[in-house]
Amino acid sequence: MANDQITSIQGTEDLLPEQWAYWRRLYGAARRQFALYGYGEIRTPVIEDLRLFVKGTGETTDIVEKEMYAIPGSDGESVALRPEGTPSVVRSYLERKLDRQAPFQKLCYVGPMFRHERPQKGRLRQFHQLGVEAIGSAEPLLDAETILLAMAIFRDVGLSGCRLLLNTIGCETCRPRYRDAVRDAVKDRLGELCEDCRRRLERNVFRVLDCKNEGCRPVIESLPEITEFLDEDCARHYAAVKDALGRAGLEFTEDPRLVRGLDYYTRTVYEIKHPGLGARDAICGGGRYDKLVEILGGPPTPCVGFAIGAEATLLAMESELGPPPDAAPRPEVYVVCFEEAARPFCFGLIGDLRGAGIAADMDFEARSAKSQMRQANRLEARLCFLIGGREVEQDQVLIKDMADGRQWSVPREQAAGEAAGHLGQRQANPGAAR
Ligand code: HAM
Repeated sequence: MANDQITSIQGTEDLLPEQWAYWRRLYGAARRQFALYGYGEIRTPVIEDLRLFVKGTGETTDIVEKEMYAIPGSDGESVALRPEGTPSVVRSYLERKLDRQAPFQKLCYVGPMFRHERPQKGRLRQFHQLGVEAIGSAEPLLDAETILLAMAIFRDVGLSGCRLLLNTIGCETCRPRYRDAVRDAVKDRLGELCEDCRRRLERNVFRVLDCKNEGCRPVIESLPEITEFLDEDCARHYAAVKDALGRAGLEFTEDPRLVRGLDYYTRTVYEIKHPGLGARDAICGGGRYDKLVEILGGPPTPCVGFAIGAEATLLAMESELGPPPDAAPRPEVYVVCFEEAARPFCFGLIGDLRGAGIAADMDFEARSAKSQMRQANRLEARLCFLIGGREVEQDQVLIKDMADGRQWSVPREQAAGEAAGHLGQRQANPGAAR
């Protein structure tokens, strides 16, 4: 590559035409399941007021402290490339007064997110999430429903190796007792914790549990578990979620150390993991966040939701289902032009074919007739239209079936219909196809 060649930004990917098969499968499955579960699609901007994430995602999170792409605006306001979708959906719910239509809303979204992370397998700086947010209900069955929805999407794309990890992190009543217990447990071992943990201990003990620093592990492992400090309502809520999942026949593992890396969670938290990934093996993360609407200036409104990481899920699909099939577009009919003067006639034919709903193409690179035939074979076209001076003169098309080599002529105005009939017949009788 030349020295002055401009390359892509580290941690970003180009998705080429042949790589789309699994993406389409995932997006198709998500849209199908979102509709089955009653979620309406919302699209929010990629850029938002930076304060939305500082307040919403939380200023003690890695995402806000270390990973956010901030852009100073000309008017002094700071703009951020969104690192996640949840605060944006809640902002929109409040700003567009969706609660006036119906206080309970089920919303889903698909789109790019941006985090300045160290790029590694399945971890990018621009990545894509497919998420849902159910706003306006504290019902534990809804927590279970979101989990079942995520699992239905994974099942729909053909994954069977997903594992659900479940926990609860209580509410504002249980947490102060837990915080005191954690502080008490670490007070003599502060020196064993990293600087981030020592700082975060004051503001949010859950950040300590979530610390990725190996050196902090021994202390973290020795800490008490939040489940011992739950108040009655939180304990009942957690039991109801587990009961609903059990009744639905979904296996799960309770993980009392699962706290998630975002500040807004209350009660239920979960992650879905897949063994086909590396160390960062979550393909979905979610949970309940009953205080976020209030934090962003709205009335008390309990919520629950999740986001699936598309790139992570694609890696899981490749590890379980093998490499994706080539998804580059292929013409069913390739129009081969034997003479320069016949090119406008051929161009008219591909127009007729496309108008009849048949994928069709011709040569745009001035290749010889022989190499056009080779191209038709390479593209696995099922029919060729062979066009020379005689066809133009007689306003006819010579059709070749590429499977059995049979050739026959039809008047030009019937050619697209003839191709449609022939291809349809082949589709209906696959045994007769090559
Ligand atoms: P999250 O756990 O930060 O949650 O992200 C959800 C999923 O997005 C992760 O499990 C992972 O698959 C994917 N993901 C995250 N960061 C990256 C990255 N740098 N590269 C590739 N994939 C990534 C949330 O974002 C919450 N908003 C989920 C939620 C919705 N909770 C309630 N509602």
